[in-house]
Amino acid sequence: MTHTTVTTQPIAGQKPGTSGLRKRTKVFMEPHFLENYVQAIFDGTGRVAGKTLVVGGDGRYFNDRAIQVILRMAAAGGAARCIVGQGGILSTPAASHLIRKRGASGGLILSASHNPGGPDADFGLKYNGANGGPASEKITAEIFARTQDIAEYHILEATDADLGTLGESHLGDLVVEIVDPVTDYAALMEDLFDFDAIAALFAGGFAMKFDAMHAVTGPYATAILEGRLGAVKGTVMNGVPSEDFGGGHPDPNPIWAKDLMDVMYADDAPDFGAASDGDGDRNMIVGRGAYVTPSDSLALLASKAHLAPGYAKGLAGVARSMPTSGAVDRVAAAKGIGCYETPTGWKFFGTLLDAGKVTLCGEESAGTGSDHVREKDGLWAVLLWLNILAETKMSVADLMDEMWRDYGRCYYTRHDYEDVEAEKANAMFDALRNKLPGLAGSDVAGQTVEWADEFAYDDPVDGSHAAAQGLRIGFVGGGRAVFRLSGTGTVGATIRLYLEQLETDASRFGLDPAEVLKPINEAALALSDLAAMTGRSAPDVIT
Ligand code: G1P
Ligand code: ZN
Repeated sequence: MTHTTVTTQPIAGQKPGTSGLRKRTKVFMEPHFLENYVQAIFDGTGRVAGKTLVVGGDGRYFNDRAIQVILRMAAAGGAARCIVGQGGILSTPAASHLIRKRGASGGLILSASHNPGGPDADFGLKYNGANGGPASEKITAEIFARTQDIAEYHILEATDADLGTLGESHLGDLVVEIVDPVTDYAALMEDLFDFDAIAALFAGGFAMKFDAMHAVTGPYATAILEGRLGAVKGTVMNGVPSEDFGGGHPDPNPIWAKDLMDVMYADDAPDFGAASDGDGDRNMIVGRGAYVTPSDSLALLASKAHLAPGYAKGLAGVARSMPTSGAVDRVAAAKGIGCYETPTGWKFFGTLLDAGKVTLCGEESAGTGSDHVREKDGLWAVLLWLNILAETKMSVADLMDEMWRDYGRCYYTRHDYEDVEAEKANAMFDALRNKLPGLAGSDVAGQTVEWADEFAYDDPVDGSHAAAQGLRIGFVGGGRAVFRLSGTGTVGATIRLYLEQLETDASRFGLDPAEVLKPINEAALALSDLAAMTGRSAPDVIT
């Protein structure tokens, strides 16, 4: 077989500070684009000679073609072995687990997460390191630098590897090992959770709907929920992965998982509903007529995780991203365990998990996870909820009510202003940033500012510093507003405004979150002058 060296040129790599690269699928399909990025990953991570890599993706359009390119380039680079999910399928958490379990040097995960898929939608590729988690800031910077000075890439001329048949084959000297994408992951879940108790719950008539959103968790959820745990057939909806996710937007929130929300708010709603995203790392939890915010879900899991065998010893500590509500902080304080506030992005949890400082972590954007892998894990969160429901025999609504009575309720919402002109967004942030130091004590739109700052983070484990991670304003009475620029959007700038209000009066736990958060929203809009600065009068998405 011939090994070809192609002369090439720099590409638009990922923004420094973000992990992986997401682009329009058509960009990834341009001649040499994917190859250049793969070579930049190989070069930026110290080359692949002799290494074992895990490769798989969420099954979106171009997944299989891209895997063939990666395998031929890994072969040309002298990699020893690529472990590939059958059919090219691996959920992000399953890939993280495989990297760890097999002692691989790292993995390439093909996904644009919850972004739509298809020839006119998005594609993505990211590199995870030997701990199974997103590449560190240092590696990300190396990969980015290589995208800027790449001059050639190496690829083997060969016919396609057979991704459909389990077992080993060769591509030049590279061993291509095709594995079942579900088996190892399902075994890990069985180690962590009391499958007998959950199976007994289902056997007793407990009804559930899991919306796989035509994405990667379909096979995992069907095998585990319907296969191992005995949930009735049809529990998993939209369970067959499709290249364009059924034309939908595989983001598990009340807007995009509206089918599931409708089921859960109907008169004959099942006991429990859940959904997961394109690559299986996000989750949405909803009880009968009771949507659970991701921030509240994290707090609930932190308060009850000890009921599952894998967490019976209790939690070392917990972590949340800064914009996530303070609900989990209140649980941690009551339990006397550590609580870390990190910048947005899963990679910041990695050092804390590796150092054993935290067991559970999560983000407001529907990501929850633990030290079992180094990614957020949608189905894991669903199974932990099921284990808790099986042990407590309580409904989701009653569990939430009990938690609010114990710790207070953090009303929470996020407003996204999408595709804002980057210059206008930056000007708004600059102006607000300049105002922050003088804000404490001032009144705005009926609220009194208690404190205001720009969030920065010093990693307590590796000492790295992350600056400019969001503008925060705390109000007297337990309100908070946070402004952040998205790092994952593919067009223009996305401004995220996170709103929170703590309530400790139990007679006020049943209010409409939008009403409760209105005053904080008005104060935040007045302080930032968002409408005038960006020309936007209302958010595009409210979750
Ligand atoms: C978003 C979420 C963030 C998450 C990331 C990757 O990033 O807000 O919590 O870690 O996607 O799933 P953002 O677009 O806000 O930068
Ligand atoms: Zn995802």
